[in-house]
Amino acid sequence: MTTIALQVNRRAVELSAEPRTSLADFVRDKLDLTGTHLGCEHGVCGACTVLLDGVPARSCITYAAACEGADVTTIEGLDEDEISTELRAAFTREHALQCGYCTPGMLVSARDLVLRLPDADERRIRVGLSGNLCRCTGYVGIVRAVQSVIEARRARNVAPLADGGRTSLGPVGSGRATASRSERPVQQALAPASESATPGSIPDFTPATVLDQRFTLAHPPAKVFAMFDDIAGIAACLPGVSLKSPPRPERVEGLIRVRLGPIAAAFEGAARVERDPATLSGRIVGIGTDQRSHSATQGEIRYRLLPLENGAATAVELSIGYTLTGMLAQVGRPGLVRDLAKRLVAEFAANLDRHMSGASSGQAAPAELSFWSIVSDVLRALLARIFGRAFTGRGGAQ
Ligand code: FES
Ligand code: FES
Repeated sequence: MTTIALQVNRRAVELSAEPRTSLADFVRDKLDLTGTHLGCEHGVCGACTVLLDGVPARSCITYAAACEGADVTTIEGLDEDEISTELRAAFTREHALQCGYCTPGMLVSARDLVLRLPDADERRIRVGLSGNLCRCTGYVGIVRAVQSVIEARRARNVAPLADGGRTSLGPVGSGRATASRSERPVQQALAPASESATPGSIPDFTPATVLDQRFTLAHPPAKVFAMFDDIAGIAACLPGVSLKSPPRPERVEGLIRVRLGPIAAAFEGAARVERDPATLSGRIVGIGTDQRSHSATQGEIRYRLLPLENGAATAVELSIGYTLTGMLAQVGRPGLVRDLAKRLVAEFAANLDRHMSGASSGQAAPAELSFWSIVSDVLRALLARIFGRAFTGRGGAQ
């Protein structure tokens, strides 16, 4: 993993990513900026075009790590942009889109043409847009829309910007990445637990993904906080988790078994526990590796307990952060992982409630965390929603 610091849509962003992560995946998966579309993922169709240091670039063939220190603008960052606003109106007026899949990339490229072409020369517009493919509308409406915006701006005496603000030749973004990269430390790669998780040395880290969850328990906060101190009890409520030795707050050693389709992994690792009785909050941070799938993970769970119903019940706020590398990291998509996390936390809450109510016998958490069974449940719920709508003829929630 490499930590990448850059500006996205005028906001400073610092996140870790695999060196092979494309800029398109980085903005879509880590920042939820899904207006950047992926068509060919080979640098041919232009659907993924973004502005890199003000210049259009193919984000599917640009490494995010190569954009260290760069200014990235996605279509979402052009919401308030004057030229883009004029282009959106012109695209609507000239019927320049049908499915709209190519449109974000088309608008980013068109904006660059409006910015720098001296006049609305059709040939130059067509050449300028030749790197953006539209599979349904054709180009007549698109070219007309761009032409009309250039004509209107030049008629208002808005002068073209020579070279669209480009200051140097060479691949887009090539100027700044190298200079700033040498000043920044590369985040330490995840090492096997046996090497790095020695007592007292479980490292802090910045999670690549953070999921927030909340659930309530019908027990007072003090009782729930005491329960969170019972590491063995908490482990028993977590599907797939088992301890290898009696836990101590500064070091808990254990195993998490995960099955995802044909992939079975057993993450062996260690964690440390921090608690703050004054704020009824705490943190568990851990590291683990699976030798078979060559996957590694660092994770942390932060929790905060809030009294409800005059202290008779407790709201548990969880923030789950993790960074996963290796084979398993290839499989998960953020939306799916969010659904899974929601489901897992619900199971954990139910087990916890049973445990605290003294009804845990015979209700132990499964010995293996089966993503497949959870995915099946998620899909079943989704299908039920879809067919429910089809049969009732209603589009909204029922
Ligand atoms: S998805 Fe990047 S050029 Fe096609
Ligand atoms: S409008 Fe559908 S691909 Fe261009």
